[in-house]
Amino acid sequence: MAVLDISKARACFPSLRSGHIYADNAGGSRTAQAVIDRIVDYLSNTNAQLEAGYAAVNSQRVAEGSIAAVELFNATSLDEVGFGSSATMLLENIARALENDIQPGDELIIMYEHEANNGPWKRLAARRNAVVKYWHPIPVSAENPYSVTYRVEELLPLVSSRTRLAAITACSNILGSVIPMEETVKALRQRAKEQGAMKIEVALDCVAYASHRRIDVQKWDVDYCVISVYKVFGAHNAVAYVRPAALQTSFTSIVHDFLDVDDKPRKFQPDGPGQELVYGASAIVPYLKSLTPEDDLTASFNTIAKHEQEILTPLLRFLTDAKQVDRGVRIIGESEINFSRTSNVSFVVVGQNAIKSKDIVEAFNKKGGISIQCGYFGAYYLIDNLRPKLDMNDGVVRISFVHYNTIEEVEKIVDVLREVLA
Ligand SMILES: Cc1ncc(COP(=O)(O)O)c(C=O)c1O
Repeated sequence: MAVLDISKARACFPSLRSGHIYADNAGGSRTAQAVIDRIVDYLSNTNAQLEAGYAAVNSQRVAEGSIAAVELFNATSLDEVGFGSSATMLLENIARALENDIQPGDELIIMYEHEANNGPWKRLAARRNAVVKYWHPIPVSAENPYSVTYRVEELLPLVSSRTRLAAITACSNILGSVIPMEETVKALRQRAKEQGAMKIEVALDCVAYASHRRIDVQKWDVDYCVISVYKVFGAHNAVAYVRPAALQTSFTSIVHDFLDVDDKPRKFQPDGPGQELVYGASAIVPYLKSLTPEDDLTASFNTIAKHEQEILTPLLRFLTDAKQVDRGVRIIGESEINFSRTSNVSFVVVGQNAIKSKDIVEAFNKKGGISIQCGYFGAYYLIDNLRPKLDMNDGVVRISFVHYNTIEEVEKIVDVLREVLA
């Protein structure tokens, strides 16, 4: 496996030149220069209504954004992807488009993860008299009650003959762990078949997954999948994959009723896709491929995963060391370093010498030069359901790296933590 040329990768991001250590990439990554260049070029030179004859190149440029999305999802056709302003909005649009295909009594399974893949389904269930069921995370460590994860064993008993949809978050933006998607969806569909469910669809939130591991909607056999472009080195927009069969048979168009949208993504994408941002997104795939000589996304993501595991080691080792555990440090999620663990670490400091998450972040802010954050990061119900209960006004500390973070940066963060937790 190729080793990541980190200097080459970092040189692609103008904001990294300042030397500032960005360690809340789960909130949003840096934007690659190539993305910025395309946005500026589009607005400077080809900005016009799509299909306007005098700027014919603009339609081709917007199509390039969709080609990149097809590659990122490992989808098969441009007719399977649609853009929007955010993953939250795309999932809401998808739920709106599904409205006529959800019957009273249908069951929708959701998790305790980011509300983007919960709220639309809760609201849809309320509108259609459907039932919401929750896939609970369970504690997996005798020592740390906050070390929780999702197991398929807790998902399968939720499946019944009325299960219509499972909304899954492929990677928790708090826990940092990845759901084994292929096995999970296979088991889910098998159980649904045994129970006599007529139609089950899977809606996947890959927002916290997309910068860390390779997405494969075909292999995973999912119906809907969303990512936020601004968390995969692009600008502030988002893109969704929708399985063609779902476009044809599950969706009712949510665009102007006089438009003939056929069975195209336009069905869930009311009007403009944000042209310059879509064109900007077309630069992401070449950037990712440039990370390894193979010129292949899977190879790049394998290299990214390996680098992430290396830089995760000093941070997790420090936070889980006996001295810090005695001090009250508790990881939110699992602490083992393996392929299923992304470089996103959340923790709290509890007990007699508790420190507020806000005070830890404040200590970093006072020092300057390093960004970390605290809060519940949209996963309100995940944090609110942890026991012993945490202060929801304070939340958890989150430190999240992507492949352009260096081991030296991680060591600097550990040094600051050592001072703050002394
Ligand atoms: C796991 C996860 N899902 C969804 C979202 C929402 O994404 P967007 O800001 O594009 O709506 C976020 C944002 O932090 C997230 O981390």
